[in-house]
Amino acid sequence: MSRAADFKPFGVDISLDDGTMTDPDTHRIVKTSTMHGYYLDETALERLIEEHGDPVHYEVFEPKIPEQDGHVRTCISKLYPGRVGDECFFTKGHYHTKLHTAETYLCISGEGLMLMKTRDGECAWEPFRPGRMVYAPPCWAHRSVNTGDAPLVSFCNYPADAGHNYGDIVDEGFPMRVFIRDGEVVIE
Ligand SMILES: [Fe+2]
Repeated sequence: MSRAADFKPFGVDISLDDGTMTDPDTHRIVKTSTMHGYYLDETALERLIEEHGDPVHYEVFEPKIPEQDGHVRTCISKLYPGRVGDECFFTKGHYHTKLHTAETYLCISGEGLMLMKTRDGECAWEPFRPGRMVYAPPCWAHRSVNTGDAPLVSFCNYPADAGHNYGDIVDEGFPMRVFIRDGEVVIE
């Protein structure tokens, strides 16, 4: 394993206008067809994929930073606007594999909220709006939700050795869902 001091300083350019990172090391594109089982209305999800050609659900841009103790991993998350039925588009959400690690999200553009939950079933949410930082504490799974009409872009930072555990969210889901009904955001 390389010593942390062997890693050289670097910088990346982030476009605050369109929520992209120039020359990311990884650029993950998550299509709607990978979201089976996540939304309440599976038929509406199938229809969306069929009628809109499997649109991009969200993108994640990451610079190359080792997943090692002492480093900080960082990313840009860009969640597109949309509904599955009347349920707002969201990211898959995850716990950190190292459960006792936190994450900060700075909302750059768009509007929405962060759903968070513990293994004990406690659930909370915090609004996202440009300039607002949301803190997902240790042990809290987190999922972004876009309630607006533009991409929800956030800048995230977390301990580099935290790891991502998506599987438990596939099994557990989130106890809260977010809908747009009669033009209003409904969280239930
Ligand atoms: Fe995270």
